[in-house]
Amino acid sequence: VNTDLGPYRHFMQKEIFEQPRAVADTLHDIDSIEPELFGLLARKRFMEIDSILILACGTSYYSGLTAKYWLESIAKIRVEVEIASEYRYRESVPNPNTLIITLSQSGETADTLAALKHAQTLGMHKTMTICNVSTSAMVRECELAYITRAGVEIGVASTKAFTTQLTALYLLTLVLAKLKNLLSQEDEAEALKNLKHLPVAMQDVLNLEPQIKKWAEKFAQKEHALFLGRGMHYPIALEGALKLKEISYIHAEAYPAGELKHGPLALVTNQIPVVVVAPTDQLLEKLKSNMSEVKARGGELFVFSDNAGKIEQSSGMHVIRLPGVYGDLSPILHTLPLQLLAYHVACVRGTDVDKPRNLAKSVTVE
Ligand code: G6P
Repeated sequence: VNTDLGPYRHFMQKEIFEQPRAVADTLHDIDSIEPELFGLLARKRFMEIDSILILACGTSYYSGLTAKYWLESIAKIRVEVEIASEYRYRESVPNPNTLIITLSQSGETADTLAALKHAQTLGMHKTMTICNVSTSAMVRECELAYITRAGVEIGVASTKAFTTQLTALYLLTLVLAKLKNLLSQEDEAEALKNLKHLPVAMQDVLNLEPQIKKWAEKFAQKEHALFLGRGMHYPIALEGALKLKEISYIHAEAYPAGELKHGPLALVTNQIPVVVVAPTDQLLEKLKSNMSEVKARGGELFVFSDNAGKIEQSSGMHVIRLPGVYGDLSPILHTLPLQLLAYHVACVRGTDVDKPRNLAKSVTVE
């Protein structure tokens, strides 16, 4: 384990900046989208399944939620995502043609392992894990595995494990789409090109750190924050809120922006910063009207937009523009500024960033 911090103040910061490398390593040098990336049996299994059930905890659960959007829209396969500690104790309706996918950085989370066993007990034996530790219990217990190459993650708040899981889940989406003849040769070539460019695009986003650091000063004095996103960026908003609460101890909630009217709008005052994940996509116009609702109530908006978004800075409206428009890969790129924001807010507040109170890196007991 390399415990050298190099130029960084904390492991979390180091791990945030390692992400371009971690994603590049997770992709290896793939030059075509093949089921065998997920194991020798993968092609056969993928042909047999009619749906997917993703089981995970914490940050890994949010990568599963994000993947549901990709898998259903691109590979047209039905996906359920469930928190492992809930799934293991509830009565559910098993489907032997479901592929069980566990997501786990450590591969040792007790609830996720127990949820996997529970699924097996119910007769679901097609199992796969996306995991960062190749020697873990999870990898041993699953039939198929994709090992992410984030490297050892020391910061308790997960960063590079999350973006490498997303990378693997996007690859899985492409593999399943190709098997179902939903991916033309041109689509495949385009997707591979974008994946190969991903580490570079990530580095360009990480270069926004000085701007994000300025925002952190404003957040550090607040006790509550609201995060909004829509579509596949809703889980990214959830992950952004989780990062902030884990390490800065600011209470943060995430909402799909369309739900604003159904509750959280009642909380909006100038004391609650509202972070908006606002990439250019088909939901942007809707999101803009959600932002106006917040502004009209005196809320202060902190918007992560991009170079095509045409969202202008004004009073009560702060905007940081990511340098590109990223299509399907946008959730991965929009994760980075949220990690940096949480990190710098925690630094201003002087918390123990790498070892937040009451939390453990790997929860191996119930
Ligand atoms: C703990 C960690 C989180 C992590 C979760 C799931 O709560 O603090 O960062 O997301 O466990 O861990 P896993 O290793 O299964 O991904």
